[in-house]
Amino acid sequence: MKKLIFSLFSLCLLAPSWVRADEGMWFLMFLKRLNERDMQQKGLKLSAEDIYSINHNSLKNAIVQFNGGCTASIISPDGLVITNHHCGYGAIAGLSTPEHNYLRDGYWAKTKAEELSPKRLFVRFFVRMDNVTDRMLSVLNPSMTEEEREAAIQTEIHKIQQENSEGGKYVVSVRSFFQGNEFYYFVYQDFKDVRLVGTPPESVGKFGGDTDNWEWPRHTGDFSVFRVYTDKNGNPAEYSPDNIPMKAQKYLDVSLKGVQEKDFAMILGYPGRTNRWVSSYWVDQQVKYGYPAWVEASKTAMDAMKKHMDASNAVRLKYASTYAGLANYWKNRQGMIDALTAHQTADLKRKAEKKFAAWAAKAENQAEYGSVLADLASYFSQTNQQAANQNYLAIFFRANPIASQVIPYARQLEAYFSSSDDQKQQLRERLTRGLQAYYERTYLPAEIDLFADNLKLYAEKSTDIPQQLKQIKEQYQGDFKRYAAEVFARSIFTKAENLENFFQNPSEEALRNDPLATMAKVLSDKYNHTEDEALRDSYDKAFRKYVKGMRDSKISRIQYPDANSTLRLTYGSVKALPKDKRNYDVKSNYYTTFETMLGKYKPGDPEFDMPVKFLQMYNDKQFGRYADKDGTLHINFLTDNDITGGNSGSPVLNGKGELIGLAFDGNIEAMAGDVIFDEKLQRTIVVDIRYVLWCIDTYAGAKHVVDEMNLIP
Ligand code: ARG
Repeated sequence: MKKLIFSLFSLCLLAPSWVRADEGMWFLMFLKRLNERDMQQKGLKLSAEDIYSINHNSLKNAIVQFNGGCTASIISPDGLVITNHHCGYGAIAGLSTPEHNYLRDGYWAKTKAEELSPKRLFVRFFVRMDNVTDRMLSVLNPSMTEEEREAAIQTEIHKIQQENSEGGKYVVSVRSFFQGNEFYYFVYQDFKDVRLVGTPPESVGKFGGDTDNWEWPRHTGDFSVFRVYTDKNGNPAEYSPDNIPMKAQKYLDVSLKGVQEKDFAMILGYPGRTNRWVSSYWVDQQVKYGYPAWVEASKTAMDAMKKHMDASNAVRLKYASTYAGLANYWKNRQGMIDALTAHQTADLKRKAEKKFAAWAAKAENQAEYGSVLADLASYFSQTNQQAANQNYLAIFFRANPIASQVIPYARQLEAYFSSSDDQKQQLRERLTRGLQAYYERTYLPAEIDLFADNLKLYAEKSTDIPQQLKQIKEQYQGDFKRYAAEVFARSIFTKAENLENFFQNPSEEALRNDPLATMAKVLSDKYNHTEDEALRDSYDKAFRKYVKGMRDSKISRIQYPDANSTLRLTYGSVKALPKDKRNYDVKSNYYTTFETMLGKYKPGDPEFDMPVKFLQMYNDKQFGRYADKDGTLHINFLTDNDITGGNSGSPVLNGKGELIGLAFDGNIEAMAGDVIFDEKLQRTIVVDIRYVLWCIDTYAGAKHVVDEMNLIP
């Protein structure tokens, strides 16, 4: 039985991509050539040109990257932006206080004057892209070392940026694809005045919490609403009370019609990272070394944070966003370990590699590709433990952002001593402001625990720790709490009064001996320079060749590049998960309803509570125009679109390009999907736009916000 499944699977691997059309994160500039016909056959009523055009107003003008890591879309002529709640989470938490707790209670601005400006929030519009592969390859040659290659690439990138940025008007990003075999540049425009219009309470926006995260069936109102502001002439500008709502070039129409199974659905957005070209060695390494360390270190940080968050609402608000981020990938990585193991993904990869080996052994390929697989294998066999070591350290830095921050601060202070008085004054003000923001965002006892616990874990679990850390471990007899308390008591950077004292009596020696800056530097050097460079070079070369060979030989027919936070389109349809023995009704349905949500309701529970008013409204059947034609209110639904982290907040569109929902999650059954798209199990979890509108209009009473949109009955 197993055998049969595998051979079917490898058949799939070999089939041309149009057979598995729902897989794929496609470049907008190639939609016409690669996808238009197929999309139209599946139900698209638009042309490729309606989606992406350089010369005409097209859908892509309504899609933005949200604050660097998520996706959002413009949904009104006055620049309303909609994204996920978990994408606005940091901004919402940052605007909240225990007295005005918008994260807990929700918020809706009654007028534009009440829209709230978070500390830092930007959206990025996509202007155009182009292929610069030939140009890049013309400055590269096979005899270059990886370092020479990188230098040549950087020089050319710099030129392309100069040519296209129009004197700083645009951000130009040149990226490599297919593991350095192709290159494209992207032109963007950033807008930095983005304000919170409204958000549901966390009990709606994060209903189900970490228990339901990555799971179906789901009932999460994962949305929040913002607005982009511009200067008087419509140009990007830093926040100013004089700024005006953006006059949107393009905005999405919003459909009230709802979806049926098999309906066409497409998603535009910024998927962050997939690894569909990696080898079996990579999979084995992550499953056995990389991801377990990630999971363990994340849990350590989460536990340290949670203790303090549970003791105080003020502290909870400070750490809510970082905690949610850690918890999200803690569950994801464990899910990946389980799914990659259960689906025997490494074995599938090995099958493809066997074919590659046979192809590479042919006389005409031998010279170029003969050693590729051996080089890959050799790299991974030598770096297994290192993959774990690195992840312990990576999560240490994630949980302790101050540790990376102090490194540039310390460098600036070194320059302080040779600066003019003016420069000194400026530096002092800048540093004081920067650190003030850190003190406000954090809670010292929690910072100490986070530092202590993740450093201790790293010191105990890593097989290769720096000498200085070894000494500390011995000196403090493994008592990292005591060490951390001393570091934070003494460092220039951890307390306003310590910084003040330093400036009262600036001493190079005090700076040189700063315990936090010193340890941070040691750890960051370890993180950035652990690998044997020759080994790394040989890996980069081999992996690049492997991907080229897999494509040239047609062993892999994947025609789209790995996700790397560039704008993509994925299309498919509304689709339930397959029924199996374990599946009860609700699980094999393609949508969930208010009723099934009530089934999860646990009053007072941190994850499954809901607004009391919800129950009242349910009893009064107040669903109005947002109800489905079956009379119920649909909450979430499933599509078979190909997305990953970074797509969060992405608009899900019907065949006419109207908004039907927001993508916000994937399902645990398909957690191997970033490595191999799983046709049978991979789903996108979408919040139905009608539930979103109901929450804004009927529940929150912010009809004026819905009135800005163009609703299609
Ligand atoms: N899994 C979602 C994603 O990666 C994030 C969901 C956030 N919700 C939560 N309960 N942590 O896009």
